[in-house]
Amino acid sequence: MTKDKLGLPVGTTLDRFIKRKQDEFPFATGELSQLLRDIALAGKIINREISRSGLLNIGGAFGVTNVQGEEQQKLDVIADIRFTRALRNGGEVCAIISEEEEGVIDLENPKGKYIVAMDPLDGSSNIDVNVSIGTIFSIYRRISPAGTPVTMEDVLQPGSEQVGAGYLLYGSSTMLVYTTGHGVYGFTYEPSLGEFFLSHQDIKMPKDGSIFSVNEGAYCTFEPAVKEYVDYCKKNEYSARYIGSLVADFHRNMLKGGIYIYPCTDKAPKGKLRLLYECNALAFIAEQAGGIATNGYKRIMDLKPTELHQRCPLFIGSENMVRKAESFYKKHEPESKSDAVASR
Ligand code: AHG
Ligand code: MN
Ligand code: MN
Repeated sequence: MTKDKLGLPVGTTLDRFIKRKQDEFPFATGELSQLLRDIALAGKIINREISRSGLLNIGGAFGVTNVQGEEQQKLDVIADIRFTRALRNGGEVCAIISEEEEGVIDLENPKGKYIVAMDPLDGSSNIDVNVSIGTIFSIYRRISPAGTPVTMEDVLQPGSEQVGAGYLLYGSSTMLVYTTGHGVYGFTYEPSLGEFFLSHQDIKMPKDGSIFSVNEGAYCTFEPAVKEYVDYCKKNEYSARYIGSLVADFHRNMLKGGIYIYPCTDKAPKGKLRLLYECNALAFIAEQAGGIATNGYKRIMDLKPTELHQRCPLFIGSENMVRKAESFYKKHEPESKSDAVASR
């Protein structure tokens, strides 16, 4: 049988891969494995809804705004329901934090050891125009004893406590990419078989790159350090690529080498992206792939969340590019101010 460099047979399904990985950890109970399977199942369902959305009446706005004050699309709501249902039925999760729900969703499942923070549909402004979108998830182990009510301490853990994270990318092909802290693996969906197959092994992000991804429409309101970094990218003829779906921009930069930036702007004074279910998950994946993620000063995964829907600036991607961007902040912030700024 043909084997790849890790000794896995070519054509390895997600299920087989998860089982194989689980067997490498003698004390693993299999619950995290089952949780990943639940997410993959929900991903297949969402993929089906997305690919038919132009034919069904599920495009467009839902007619209400979510807790973020953003207009919900019908598919945002559908994805939220589908993922919540899959995690509830799976039985491994005790609570969910979702972009689409104001409070903690306590599944009242006394056996569930895990907490999932999720952005059920990322890049929702791209749904109706047939551009890549995604789902982001982050997995934590609960701190309080199983069977007791979920606490804020359980749900406000720093990203460094994640036990798993990943995303689904609904693009030219649909992919599931995840890490449990032992490298990053990507699986491509084969719709006629209904299976995810291992396609990207132990993904490593190039240390350098030539792509910068930022919404330059807000350039005039960027902080001086960000303006200077963007100017630096232009002077050096880097390629500007911005899809407007974080998952898709991140995925491209991880494979090709690049940086994604969502800085503070006038419209989004603390940044736009959410720490718990956007930044932390991708930061974990970036680091596992050899990249980095910061808020301009501090490692994203060291930030201590204080609110469920907390936002933060994000600089993520190839190590040397993110370090270069940070160097402009260092130049601008006098030493005495840096602690105050770093605590933002
Ligand atoms: P969401 O659809 O989950 O609200 O996320 C949208 C995010 C992110 O995916 C994307 O990179 C960014 O918003 C785009 O924002 P701008 O249109 O302000 O650039
Ligand atoms: Mn999002
Ligand atoms: Mn979303």
